[in-house]
Amino acid sequence: MTLMKPSYVFLLFLLTLAPGIWAVRSPAAAMARRAALEDGIGQTPQMGWNSWNHFGCNINEQVIRQTADAMVDSGLAKLGYVYINIDDCWAAYDRDSQGNLAANTSTFPSGIAALADYVHQKGLKLGIYSDAGPRTCSNLMPGSLGHEEQDAKTFASWGIDYLKYDNCNNQGISPQPRYDAMSKALLNSGRGIFFSLCEWGSDDPAIWARAIGHSWRTTGDIQDNWASMTSIADANDKWASQAGPGGWNDPDMLEVGNGGMTTEEYRSHFSIWALAKAPLVIGCNISSRSNETKGILSNQNVIAVNQDEHGVQGHKGTKCNKMETKKGPAGASITARWSSIGLDPATVVDVHDLWTDEVISSVQREMKQTVDSHACKMYVLTPK
Ligand code: GAL
Repeated sequence: MTLMKPSYVFLLFLLTLAPGIWAVRSPAAAMARRAALEDGIGQTPQMGWNSWNHFGCNINEQVIRQTADAMVDSGLAKLGYVYINIDDCWAAYDRDSQGNLAANTSTFPSGIAALADYVHQKGLKLGIYSDAGPRTCSNLMPGSLGHEEQDAKTFASWGIDYLKYDNCNNQGISPQPRYDAMSKALLNSGRGIFFSLCEWGSDDPAIWARAIGHSWRTTGDIQDNWASMTSIADANDKWASQAGPGGWNDPDMLEVGNGGMTTEEYRSHFSIWALAKAPLVIGCNISSRSNETKGILSNQNVIAVNQDEHGVQGHKGTKCNKMETKKGPAGASITARWSSIGLDPATVVDVHDLWTDEVISSVQREMKQTVDSHACKMYVLTPK
């Protein structure tokens, strides 16, 4: 898998993935609005946490505060995980008498602005959630369709830094005008707000969303199991050429630490997301995460691949597919050849193993490694 020069990243897997397909480029006309979005936000994939994968609708202000505390106390904040994102179910069932969205007073009695202050004082940023329909996916709160300007101003007045914008109850209206209306409203709101489109990849947002927001979901919801994670990785791979500074393919939030996969599988999940320049949005309860979970989420070598300033999304190399299709409980021997990533076989490289942090110096032509089932090895190759 080729990434950036002068280093190359190889990710060796023992798993099943279908061959990658290539994406079309964004139409030139869509680039016009891009200028307005050159706001310095999302220059690298966003890093943070979101409440949905672990808590679903069981959220309240204590959960959000504790998560912000844990983000800082665990050292994860220092590694770049800055967004604390509240997902669905934060608001009152109905708008207030002025038609504004309002926090659910039993679960968020202090209000969202107070929570934003709390999170900001910790050096973190607060994200929130709405929907490009009249109701959100839970149906427990209103969505923002037809209220875009008003809601964007509300979010800005509360000090919100990030909006995840969902696609339920969409009235059969095409996503582009619905998401564009919120994009414009956020740009008019007077506050720099990361715009995360959650349109599930239904209408190929990778093709048009760069002109509208900073990331776009390319797939349906992830589930906390190996089959879901790898199929989502496959679907996302198709759009690799559309990712870059300011706009990222989003194969959904991380499941690392939620219990449905083994530690090795979570290591593979995190490695693929890092290589795919996917948002690194933690989805577990970080207040009670295990040391294994913390070890995966805080590997600085792997995070550095994700946050590399060139922003080139890694993709599956055709030559790798043979290795990837080996299956079974036993380990397999995998040979990674320089020629598979367009490197002259004579090139002498230093090989950095990102998970063990060891360096093998002066390697030529190829590398042979044994990889356990559902495990991965991730290397950066630096020509001498
Ligand atoms: C889904 C979305 C999930 C989560 C959920 C909330 O549409 O993909 O990530 O936000 O709605 O109801």
